[in-house]
Amino acid sequence: MTRLEEACDVDLNDRDTFLTHDELIARVRGKQGLIAMLPDTVDRAVLEAGLPDLKIVAAVAVGINNIDAKTAAELGVAVTNTPDVLTESTADLTWSLILGIMRRVTEGDRLVRRGGWKAWAFDFMLGTELRGKQLGIVGFGRIGRAVAARAAAFGVRVAYFARNPQAPKVEGCEPMPLDRLLATSDIVSLHCPLTPETRHLIDQTALARMKRSAYLINASRGPVVDEAALAWALKNRLIAGAGLDVYENEPAVLPELMALENVLLCPHLGSATSETRTAMADLAARNIVAVLTGQPPLTPVK
Ligand code: DGY
Repeated sequence: MTRLEEACDVDLNDRDTFLTHDELIARVRGKQGLIAMLPDTVDRAVLEAGLPDLKIVAAVAVGINNIDAKTAAELGVAVTNTPDVLTESTADLTWSLILGIMRRVTEGDRLVRRGGWKAWAFDFMLGTELRGKQLGIVGFGRIGRAVAARAAAFGVRVAYFARNPQAPKVEGCEPMPLDRLLATSDIVSLHCPLTPETRHLIDQTALARMKRSAYLINASRGPVVDEAALAWALKNRLIAGAGLDVYENEPAVLPELMALENVLLCPHLGSATSETRTAMADLAARNIVAVLTGQPPLTPVK
């Protein structure tokens, strides 16, 4: 029995697919707490179906674009997420995207597997070196800063764009307006939440501003990038490459992207380590127990 089951009765969806929206509406009725995963859309209909019992929605993620937090607040339902516990694993994955695309690791893996490696050659599959390059970080929250913290080890300098003027300054990292960051960075890595302001933040115009030798990395949310525009930019070599962990319509990936060698496609693995997923699940459960026993939530979404 898990700690959550000791504290409350649990109605677990134990099949290997997520509930449909209608099923979620039916199953939330009479429940005091809801643990929501990324593919669960918790909108007004779900929240209202849970009333008057529902007290808390605990997201097992840091990004909560699938949850209507504004309506939840209006209806008196607490919303929590799982910050901090996934910061390091997501920053590590970001660097694996950077290294993977710039050193052509997955492209090389594909070549070996199809028997395309004929001989070692001096100028074979040359990639791009990290040392001396500028990493431009868009969104300088916890994950953006953890990505920045690893840059010195690779001899990479950091520029960042933060929408929030309160974002803490970090020594050695240069704040920049977005346009300048796009035009001067060798790697642009996205770490902002998905909001109406950041949807398609990286569109055709933004991509055209980037250096032809630059790489785009996205481990935030798919819709921050206009995927069709990205496929166009990659195909026409307007940028050198991209490393993606997230997509506009997950798990679907644009066929145009699938056909390109200069893009690394990872299936949303940002926080996917055993250690981090255990910590995320534990934090979500502790938030539920706290709220249902009359304590304040541990990690409320503000
Ligand atoms: C998050 O926490 O937002 C991640 O994308 C989930 O894996």
